[in-house]
Amino acid sequence: MTLGFPDGFRWGTATAAYQIEGSTTADGRGPSIWDTFTARTGLATGDPACDHYRRYREDIGLLSELGIPYYRFSVAWSRIMPDGRTVEPRGLAFYDRLVDALLENGITPMVTLYHWDLPEALQAEGGWPNRELADLFADYALTVHKVLGDRVQQWTTINEPFCAAFIGYGNGDHAPGIQDEGAALVAGHNLLLAHGKAAQALRSDGGEQEVSIVLNFAPVLTDVDDAAHREAARRFDFLHNRFFLDPLLGRGYPPELLADLAHLGTLEPAIADGDLEIIAQPLDVLGVNYYAPARAVPLEDPETDSNCPLPGLRGMDVQPPRGELTSLGWEQRPECFTDLLLWLQGHCGGLPLVIAENGAAFEDEVVEGRVHDEKRVRYFADHLAAVHAAIERGADVRGYMAWSLLDNFEWAMGYTQRFGLVHVDFETQERVLKDSALFYADVVARNGL
Ligand code: FCB
Repeated sequence: MTLGFPDGFRWGTATAAYQIEGSTTADGRGPSIWDTFTARTGLATGDPACDHYRRYREDIGLLSELGIPYYRFSVAWSRIMPDGRTVEPRGLAFYDRLVDALLENGITPMVTLYHWDLPEALQAEGGWPNRELADLFADYALTVHKVLGDRVQQWTTINEPFCAAFIGYGNGDHAPGIQDEGAALVAGHNLLLAHGKAAQALRSDGGEQEVSIVLNFAPVLTDVDDAAHREAARRFDFLHNRFFLDPLLGRGYPPELLADLAHLGTLEPAIADGDLEIIAQPLDVLGVNYYAPARAVPLEDPETDSNCPLPGLRGMDVQPPRGELTSLGWEQRPECFTDLLLWLQGHCGGLPLVIAENGAAFEDEVVEGRVHDEKRVRYFADHLAAVHAAIERGADVRGYMAWSLLDNFEWAMGYTQRFGLVHVDFETQERVLKDSALFYADVVARNGL
């Protein structure tokens, strides 16, 4: 072994409810915004996805076979509260069974309460731009905690509020598919408020627990090191990497960011007295998702919209990725991962970090019952080495969750992007371990690369 990880390092895989479960009408589940968005736009839907709702025991069996001790999954709000408010016991019972089955197999469950699948009934009430959702989310969090809290210690409130707010309500590429930047900023604020209220609710319910939120980070690269490029990079960095992080850390929104967004006129009015205190609940750990960096260039005309998920972020534009790309067109830059973790270590004042997602989509093929996914093996090896380098240089990284256990429903891209360690034939639902699964299992077994 050349690169050993710290003792007790948490190795896991991650999934999300809508991406794997299928069975979208089973046991009283109500529609989520992803059901209605995909139906309206004609995109592929999350049914049957990996049919995990019915095959969860088989999938847990795979984890057990691979010896991967942690499993991060999300709970579908629309199963627990089909109308956003009324509890459906059959939905809760599914996650109850799932947690028991994980524990029976010696796997530690890590729950994410919101991975983008808002009950449609709450979108009908305005969705995340409606501040009332923060309280409803806290009620939902408490409801789930009351059932799972005796067995689950690791709780993540929200996954990637950046995407939920800006891709959902900004450029509209994701559900609910709304293009209203002013509303997107309010959605972002309300998601933070929902996190804070849910963190309070979880802690009010007793028990030992670790509360986190998962943010996605994109280190920003520029070609030219001059004032204009630095300013373009700064704008994107503040929107992507600090809009959510700084308020969580108790610093409020950076003043430069408020100035960048002032022309949209909605963020500052949305911040009520006391909100920033609620948002800044102490975090036990920060979940970090890293896939790829972004590239920024200045826009000459300061009034022109950018092509970033929040087009109203002006003065900068996002450039196409380059170099070695994944099948999703994401740039492979493991060195940016190390830099990101070291930056977070300093910026967050030593808050422990867990990599909640990292992984890559490539075109895979099953040949004679095997999937030789060398590119994914290389991606994981390089990115794990990058995490190791950050730890060596002082970053307090406690764990790593590979995205993803299974090939799954990749949101607006449907089933075209395979991120799994396990290949899924979406016609037959047959699972085949890829070489990357065996590689990862070996890393986990040796606690090193
Ligand atoms: C992240 C999402 C996750 C998955 C990966 C590829 O942004 O959290 O659900 O789609 O990207």
